Amino acid sequence: MAKPRVQFICQNCGTAHTRWAGKCDSCGEWNTLVEEGTGGGIGSGPAAMRSARKGRPVTLTTLSGEIEEAPRIVSGIGELDRATGGGFVRGSALLIGGDPGIGKSTLLTQAAAALAMRGHRVVYVSGEEAVAQIRLRAQRLNAAETPVELAAETNVEDILATIAEGKRPDLVILDSIQTLWTDMADSAPGTVTQVRASAQAMIRYAKSTGAAIVLVGHVTKEGQIAGPRVVEHMVDGVLYFEGEGGHHYRILRTVKNRFGPTDEIGVFEMSDRGLREVANPSELFLGERSTKAPGAAVFAGMEGTRPVLVEIQALVAPSPLGTPRRAVVGWDSARLSMILAVLEAHCGVRFAQHDVYLNVAGGYRISEPAADLAVAAALVSSLTGLALPADCVYFGEISLSGAIRPVAHAQQRLKEAEKLGFAQAAMPASGEDQNGGNGRRAFQPATLSDLVVRIAG
Ligand code: TYD
Ligand code: MG
Repeated sequence: MAKPRVQFICQNCGTAHTRWAGKCDSCGEWNTLVEEGTGGGIGSGPAAMRSARKGRPVTLTTLSGEIEEAPRIVSGIGELDRATGGGFVRGSALLIGGDPGIGKSTLLTQAAAALAMRGHRVVYVSGEEAVAQIRLRAQRLNAAETPVELAAETNVEDILATIAEGKRPDLVILDSIQTLWTDMADSAPGTVTQVRASAQAMIRYAKSTGAAIVLVGHVTKEGQIAGPRVVEHMVDGVLYFEGEGGHHYRILRTVKNRFGPTDEIGVFEMSDRGLREVANPSELFLGERSTKAPGAAVFAGMEGTRPVLVEIQALVAPSPLGTPRRAVVGWDSARLSMILAVLEAHCGVRFAQHDVYLNVAGGYRISEPAADLAVAAALVSSLTGLALPADCVYFGEISLSGAIRPVAHAQQRLKEAEKLGFAQAAMPASGEDQNGGNGRRAFQPATLSDLVVRIAG
């Protein structure tokens, strides 16, 4: 066996270095290199047991008759099933990441209880809480009377031995991946080597037995799954559980899914009895809307396959500062600068000597460029002090030339808006007639100037 060698592993990206350095060459993070031995590192253990089994390549066409949908375990919690793409897939591994305290354990306790009630064998392994604590939480969530099996363990070999007893589990939840450690690796728990080796062992278990596994991971302040970002590449799906402090709703966002669509979201509301599903997020985000105030525009957005209406609020106020302030919550600040520049250059709207604040209501975060038009409308409305029509939604991308570009899913956005009582829409022009004869009025500006004229007269 090779002599044990020391190497330095970046705790952020997992790159191995032969020498210590202050900065990781690979990801550029500072102070992330930690000395880890490779004596019993990953690979060296299983290698000894490896046998030379021969594989058999198959051609795609011969498979045509055998393809089935991935076998899924449905929890019955609609918003969770939506985010996973229709339920947990047997034999797959899912990573659920989120800030500490955001509600990951709560969500998974509820999911475990729901699945156990449907007759599945569910094992909840916690490395962070004692069994009594998990039971207490289950009691608070009204889930204490369900046959979920609880275990407080951190060693992967012990966990595998524990769940090997009895019927094969359908779902194994590991809370959290940062607490796991395996005899196969000799570095401390929580290091990248341990996290990776433990995840690998559990994924191998899932593939060989057909159980679905869920790994819980804590996210660092920078928004990455601490250290175990490496795990993201190993698992079949990655979900983020997010929410703003002070807001009572939580979003489960799919960022990777080998068995279904990404960009899906599940929306939950927090309560003292646990998480409640929010089937119509638009109603939640539009909940406390004041329709008379200038500077507010309703954006008809999309989250995956689902339309979501959300209010965008702008405040444009005279500034005593030489360099006026630009602050954004819930949107891209570079994109705001772009919209301001287009308004100044092509529409003659001046924001110099004005502070500009932009906020997406409810602490929601938008990543779609389709929000451009709503942002521009909110900005112009706040600057002029003229409120926008209360029954109008806005969507459309703005190009640097000031043209309004079409965006996908216009019909779905309009349908959702109509459902919630909006009679008008400002949107990009498309070939078809959007007025449709059902009382909806569509304003289709060709350029941003047209919209400014419409708002400011
Ligand atoms: P927890 O699920 O333990 O968070 P995580 O596992 O992500 O660290 O939840 C954190 C705290 O929030 C916990 O004290 C319970 C509380 N909580 C509620 O009271 N209601 C809820 O709906 C949720 C999600 C959490
Ligand atoms: Mg937890």
